[in-house]
Amino acid sequence: MAIIAPSLLASNFLELGAESRMLNQSVADWFHLDVMDGVFVPNISFGLPVIEQIRTATTKICDVHLMIENPGNYAEAFKKAGADILTVHQEACPHLHRNLQQIKSLGMKPGVALNPSTPVSVLVDVLQDIEVVCLMSVNPGFGGQSFIPWTLEKIKTLKAMIQSRGLSTLIEIDGGVTLENAKEILLAGADVLVAGSTVFKSSDPIATIAALKAL
Ligand code: DX5
Ligand code: ZN
Repeated sequence: MAIIAPSLLASNFLELGAESRMLNQSVADWFHLDVMDGVFVPNISFGLPVIEQIRTATTKICDVHLMIENPGNYAEAFKKAGADILTVHQEACPHLHRNLQQIKSLGMKPGVALNPSTPVSVLVDVLQDIEVVCLMSVNPGFGGQSFIPWTLEKIKTLKAMIQSRGLSTLIEIDGGVTLENAKEILLAGADVLVAGSTVFKSSDPIATIAALKAL
């Protein structure tokens, strides 16, 4: 069964407490929390103090997606704020293996995100050290964009890499996931679906999460 990770980026920030409690009561598996620094991506979202507050409103897994430069400088702070999974971008990490070791040593699960234009082959040597590969199916920085269709081929290639090595690395798809395309994404080999707009812009987020989970 797919892991559903709604992205709070699309939630109503004025009602963040209520939105978090709603998600906590839904069948969602993870909270996907998008941190942007205005440098790695052309947008700024929220950071440590907000995640610290969200942490108090949920018992679910907090999946923190860092779209920031120098993520190693903040890994410990995100652990303290309550991150369970810490995902860094391969493009922001010239010493990716060191970042993964650091995240693991802090007691979090390491994730690596790849931009649409980054081939999955860049992970061939470190795949065994990664718990979650987040394939960006839009260019990171904004919610509400359209799914890039050739991500499906990347999912298949990555799945084959993971299976041929006998690993249990999860494939997470982030960006433009809808009730219409989710099935195809899962059939291609995805394990985790991130959904921002699809969940929070729907009239009944709880039902939408359940519908994604039921696929
Ligand atoms: C984009 C973020 C995504 C975003 C997804 O940079 O990483 O997690 O919230 O939003 P939707 O589901 O609306 O594409
Ligand atoms: Zn994200």
